[in-house]
Amino acid sequence: MDKDINVKVRIWRQPGPKAKGHFETYKLENISGGTSFLEMLDILNEQLIRDKQEPVVFDNDCREGICGMCSLYVNGHPHGPDDLITTCQLHMRHFKNGETITVEPWRSAAFPVVRDLMVDRQAFDKIMQAGGFVSVNTGGVPDANAIPISKLAADEAMDAASCIGCGACVAACKNGSAMLFVSAKVSQLALLPQGKVEAKNRAKKMVAKMDELGFGNCTNTRACELECPKGVNISNIARMNRSFLSAKLSD
Ligand code: SF4
Ligand code: FES
Repeated sequence: MDKDINVKVRIWRQPGPKAKGHFETYKLENISGGTSFLEMLDILNEQLIRDKQEPVVFDNDCREGICGMCSLYVNGHPHGPDDLITTCQLHMRHFKNGETITVEPWRSAAFPVVRDLMVDRQAFDKIMQAGGFVSVNTGGVPDANAIPISKLAADEAMDAASCIGCGACVAACKNGSAMLFVSAKVSQLALLPQGKVEAKNRAKKMVAKMDELGFGNCTNTRACELECPKGVNISNIARMNRSFLSAKLSD
């Protein structure tokens, strides 16, 4: 049985993209350990609305670890202190009674703050539009065994495809690099026969867009891999670099 706890939440408040931000601390009492982190923010917002104050703006959608919207930095970690979960899957039982919890938006030049805890992640959409698709005509739904795909390739493609585009890898990286995200999106297609055809060009275009949008370079600190809620592996970065170099050499 989860015990109720009292906590203080120290939250980044910023009324707009150009406004100066600051931390505000709020008290919450009798929060059940089974309350999810986003439900705790809902309770805080109900409290703020009752007190005629502005509610805290934060992003969310599915609340089950699928959409990648709940982009919060909690106590110095993207998606909080627990491994392999998103903020919406984090529960209050992970915090101590009386603890002060610090909540910030993603901090990265490529993800400007819109308001409070919400950031603009359109840069990821632009990278996807640059090449994150298959443009060859693949026809109708093929017979399941018509194109043989090795178990290893299928598993690696599925692992790369588990990236939910949350941006935690960028927020965790001291260089603000998007290499883990981009390499996952490049790999999920490049490993399969239908995506191989455009693999080199895709890597070249997506990397060029990533550089243009102000994401930093990778210096192999592996912070991205450590904080990724889906456990996306940095071996995808090596695969993307090989495709990128090969595309450049054949220019
Ligand atoms: S690689 Fe991981 S941390 Fe980066 S966007 Fe994808 S799921 Fe999020
Ligand atoms: S709200 Fe969708 S992953 Fe958290």
